[in-house]
Amino acid sequence: MRPQVRPAIFQKIPPGCAMKDLLRKGSIVIMLGTGGVGKTTVAAALGIAGAQAYLETALITVDPAPRLRDALGLERLGGKPARLTQRHLRSAGLRADLKLSALMLDVKGVWDAMVERFVSDPQARKRILQNPFYRNLSAEFAGSESFAALQELYELHQAGRFDLEVVDTPPAAYAFDFLEAPARFVRLFDLPGARWLFTPSLSASRIAMRIASNAARFVVRELERFAGRGVLSTIADFFAAAAESLDAVVDRLHKTQALMRSPAVRFVMVTTAEEDRLRQASDLIAEMKKRELNLSAIVINRFLDERTWRETAEGTSALDYLGEIARLQSNSSSDAAPAHVSTPLVDYLACYRERTLGAIDRIGAFARDLPAGIRLAFAPEMGDGVPDLRALAQVAEYIGRGAEFLHLIENAADYARRAETVAN
Ligand SMILES: Nc1ncnc2c1ncn2[C@@H]1O[C@H](COP(=O)(O)OP(=O)(O)OP(=O)(O)O)[C@@H](O)[C@H]1O
Ligand SMILES: [Mg+2]
Repeated sequence: MRPQVRPAIFQKIPPGCAMKDLLRKGSIVIMLGTGGVGKTTVAAALGIAGAQAYLETALITVDPAPRLRDALGLERLGGKPARLTQRHLRSAGLRADLKLSALMLDVKGVWDAMVERFVSDPQARKRILQNPFYRNLSAEFAGSESFAALQELYELHQAGRFDLEVVDTPPAAYAFDFLEAPARFVRLFDLPGARWLFTPSLSASRIAMRIASNAARFVVRELERFAGRGVLSTIADFFAAAAESLDAVVDRLHKTQALMRSPAVRFVMVTTAEEDRLRQASDLIAEMKKRELNLSAIVINRFLDERTWRETAEGTSALDYLGEIARLQSNSSSDAAPAHVSTPLVDYLACYRERTLGAIDRIGAFARDLPAGIRLAFAPEMGDGVPDLRALAQVAEYIGRGAEFLHLIENAADYARRAETVAN
């Protein structure tokens, strides 16, 4: 059976055009954003856009939703980058020659690989891998996930196999967690007292004496959080076995931090149009500037619906229904209101209308305040969610149009607002 050909939403202009600066050979594109805004979805869409721009692209995802995992074929692919098959691409209406590989971050696998690499003595390696403190460290601490993602990225980038790496980031309450958590995490190994305290050559009496100091107590408390019961011997054993590799881990952190500030790295902030999210986004823009991090683009995800964007692109009557709602509202308050239009329904629609117009106003103001050099792009709320590669490709197409249609949306909103005045 021939695959169904996906109709282009926007004719003529190739997808990813507005993101040309972002999707360049040698670039690393990293998502930032708070929990649930659509980082994984946007990362996957940008991965497709990168491949469509003839770049051999690697997409590093972190814990994608099961449907997205299926969409990318990650059930099979797992922790090493593997190419999406021609059949898979074709079935989504994409060009079969796209060079897109995906991998799902395997935190434990990355850590174990680091132990393999940095600890030369097989006995010490075994002791570390079986050590409960190590297992908790690598599995349960949030910073460990970010650290692993950075390591994976570092390795891939150094290997030079791909033209472009697109990096999804772990769920975070605070958008900078991805950048800060690894340092907090590694500091644990580098706490002034930690190595000294647990170095086996120190005598027990000396440890006992020093443990009385506040600094040492702090170290123990911090370490105990991850070690569980019987902590001290477990931790001491870990540090004894890992002593030679700790410097290498700290060194890796510094290298990845330097990479984050290199011109190759471009950050993409993902947000939604809610008031508090946009406020957070503005704070983040200022913060990134202060830290000299290269924020290249902002994607406003789930902004308006697909129909609105499509009608705007086609130059048809986008948002006209908002004017209809105003007329309905005006009619329903008059004596001539049709009996079948219930007041709660009209109130609900009026509320929807206000929310939509309010969001457009907010986004317009946000776009005008955006510092030069930061691109803005949109992805609508996809009617059927983002269940497969085809839907991801459509998200890529929307994002690829940048903010080209924003002023048309604003015009349509103005028009709908005027309908209210006329109706009244
Ligand atoms: N534009 C969209 N339209 C419809 N559904 C979307 C859209 N973007 C994301 N979603 C859905 O929202 C959910 C959350 O998206 P996603 O997993 O990409 O967010 P995230 O920022 O990666 O979340 P987390 O912080 O938990 O990692 C998913 O089920 C996804 O399919
Ligand atoms: Mg995610």
